[in-house]
Amino acid sequence: MNQPFITLGIETSCDETGAAIYDSEKGLLSNALYSQIDIHKKFGGVVPEVASRNQLEKINPIIQAALDMANITVREVDVIAVTNKPGLPGSLLVGVCFAKALAWASHKKLIGVNHLEGHAFSSFLQYDVPFPHICITASGGHTSIYLINGFGDYTILGQTTDDAAGEAFDKVAKLIGLPYPGGPEIEKLAAKVQFKDFFKYPRHKPNTLDFSFSGLKTAVLYDLISKGAYDRKTKKYIAKDTELANQVASSLLVCIADIFKEKLERAIKQHPGIKAITFVGGVACNRYIRDQLEKLCKKFDLPLFVPDPEFCTDNAAMIALVGNYKAQKGEFSSWELDIL
Ligand code: KG4
Ligand code: ZN
Repeated sequence: MNQPFITLGIETSCDETGAAIYDSEKGLLSNALYSQIDIHKKFGGVVPEVASRNQLEKINPIIQAALDMANITVREVDVIAVTNKPGLPGSLLVGVCFAKALAWASHKKLIGVNHLEGHAFSSFLQYDVPFPHICITASGGHTSIYLINGFGDYTILGQTTDDAAGEAFDKVAKLIGLPYPGGPEIEKLAAKVQFKDFFKYPRHKPNTLDFSFSGLKTAVLYDLISKGAYDRKTKKYIAKDTELANQVASSLLVCIADIFKEKLERAIKQHPGIKAITFVGGVACNRYIRDQLEKLCKKFDLPLFVPDPEFCTDNAAMIALVGNYKAQKGEFSSWELDIL
């Protein structure tokens, strides 16, 4: 342990191409990102084939940008860490193949990093979070609660059995005619009506730390149909009442925040020894949910750590950080590293 390492982290699991440099002594030196959001917006969601082609185009310049920002060359890098799961297969393959080729050609060690482990430890890019703590990860692809005992030492307490929280935001946003990604759009509309709960959508799976969001999307869909606001044949939002979208957005946000509060309170009560809470992933950019969780944490006298938005959404800095502590422990991958 504690041997200095410089890690190049590479993230290509979905529609973001990221590269970052993490120094075990100085911390994060650079974090470069290219987001394809504008490309996928017109399709209303991520198109896997388009995503992987764009990863291929951008991976080289983004890695070069991360090296330049950190003012180093690839010669000074000790380890190449790359997201190898979970994610879109085509996108993951671009990152993994590139990382293998670069590591082989430049005689570096290779480390495969689980994208979810990256999110779970992303708070450490900015904060020295005490162990043990509880982490809620909520993004477009995943929603889970972890008990984290140390670096790389974590157990899953609960996870979604169907859709992720971000997916619920994205799908409901689409129902009411908002662009992708839906989370930030929903938050904007909800603020216009002061985050009131108009429609009291169904809350959660009781007595468990698992989540379920697919029923929520269906509940919103049937509510819109019953209000004459959605045409099933054309799959179009047709409400004449301009206020309705704000009310749907607000009710959805309050509902999802309530679900997180209920799960977190249950997890805290089940683990009385924990010292902190972290909230990470794209959904953690949501100010309203953060404020609600903050209030709950105060009640239990626990600090809440939420990374800045650039570290909440997909990024390579978190992959470099995990790669760095794996390198310290000697947990390297073989050339057989796969995306499964
Ligand atoms: O972590 P992330 O960038 O990518 C995945 O690993 O999925 O998360 C993207 C998700 C999207 O579903 C997006 O709608 C959601 O995070 N999101 C938000 C907000 N900003 C992004 N959800 C709610 N409120 C936000 N402000
Ligand atoms: Zn993610």
